[in-house]
Amino acid sequence: MTAPAPTKRLYIKTYGCQMNVYDSERMAEILRPLGYGPTDTIEAADLVVLNTCHIRQRATEKVYSELGRIKRVKARAAEGGGEMIVAVAGCVAQAEGAEIMRRQGAVDLVIGPQSYHRLPELIAKIHRASGERLAADFEPRAKFDALPSSREAAGVTAFLTVQEGCDKFCTFCVVPYTRGAEFSRPSADIEAEAGSLVAGGVREITLLGQNVNAYQCDLGGGLAALIRRLARIPGLRRIRYTTSHPRDMDEALIAAHGEVDALMPYLHLPVQSGADTVLKAMNRDHTARGYLRTIEAVRAARPDIAISGDFIVGFPGERDADFEETLALVREIGYASAFSFKYSRRPGTPAAAMGAQVDEAVKDERLRRLHGLLDAQQRAFNAGLLGATVDVLFEKSGRHPGQVIGRSPYLQAVHCEGPVALIGRIVPVTIASAGANSLAGHRILEAA
Ligand code: SAH
Ligand code: SF4
Ligand code: F3S
Repeated sequence: MTAPAPTKRLYIKTYGCQMNVYDSERMAEILRPLGYGPTDTIEAADLVVLNTCHIRQRATEKVYSELGRIKRVKARAAEGGGEMIVAVAGCVAQAEGAEIMRRQGAVDLVIGPQSYHRLPELIAKIHRASGERLAADFEPRAKFDALPSSREAAGVTAFLTVQEGCDKFCTFCVVPYTRGAEFSRPSADIEAEAGSLVAGGVREITLLGQNVNAYQCDLGGGLAALIRRLARIPGLRRIRYTTSHPRDMDEALIAAHGEVDALMPYLHLPVQSGADTVLKAMNRDHTARGYLRTIEAVRAARPDIAISGDFIVGFPGERDADFEETLALVREIGYASAFSFKYSRRPGTPAAAMGAQVDEAVKDERLRRLHGLLDAQQRAFNAGLLGATVDVLFEKSGRHPGQVIGRSPYLQAVHCEGPVALIGRIVPVTIASAGANSLAGHRILEAA
């Protein structure tokens, strides 16, 4: 299906996780037949979509301050006779839909993550001034069934959502409330979507889910079964997946890391804390030791695998000794990269009502120490590749002329001199320098 030439401009701003990035791309695709083409300035937009994140308080606050700015732009547009539709999508929409409508007069539409397939209809109704203004269903099947299974590839790498929602109910987290219950997409739909991406030039696909390794394949098995099927698509050179829960890291998935060439040696496996009392209060359903054993098994299958994770400091009741256990766990694992956050109290979650909330200054100090350790580990991991030759999938031109940028199997950014013709190809590169966030090197041979 070819869309008509765009007559209207769509501005989408995306906050939060990769699943929102995926959803934003899909929203842009389904709005194209209505005549919406992309713009990257709000002032030029006929339709503004904020695809929001609710995970921490700061994420939610950003949305309200952006809406304040948009309100002024919309008012100026109206003075000039223009019309601008403002839609709030994503997890804040799901969690605070009614409040957004009440607080923000400039918002025309609030739409939760399971309702995006209804976006064209809702926008059209707003044009007729008879629209429903709040859509917050919890029906992931309807969403995915209604989105087209073919995708327009926009580059060398792509995200593909295979699983949505979460049944884990960690006591700090809003996701089970904003994204609903765990749902796995039919494998045939996923294969069709992956196939169209690869036909359009995509060489690397990252499978997404809030709990991607809880994926249940309709042909039997879990995420490993899906990965093995996708690995047979000719031209699909790399597969990644994120984010995983330690409890769902099953033997089949661990074995796949040792056996499936296309599955990249990188695993993002959040642990949150190294103290069992804290893990229990978080309702994580795993211990620090259990997590360590899982990492050991993954490393036995794939010794060079890069391990990444997420941490929360200052969870209610976290004592100094508990935090020291987190540091000890980090030292024992040796992370290639990781994200660490101060606990943020989220209304409606069980932890928000717990006693023994930790002082902000204590959280700051713990975060600083954990950051310091994780940063040193990341630098050490990167420096460990000096002199080594790694396969780089080139994705885009660099900032300097004659420079191209790609990624190593371990997800590090790699800068290299070379022609743009390298984009989309996997080429061995010898690493000559390593910083905190990227590597640089030289190509050694003709492209593979
Ligand atoms: N589904 C994923 C992560 C979802 S949110 C998982 O289970 O790993 C991404 C990260 O945000 C979490 O891993 C956690 O470290 C952090 N996070 C979630 N809720 C938070 C809160 N209330 N305060 C601080 N960090 C939080
Ligand atoms: Fe949130 Fe826990 Fe579910 Fe991850 S597993 S999305 S942290 S509730
Ligand atoms: Fe944020 Fe929702 Fe993702 S809360 S992290 S956008 S699932």
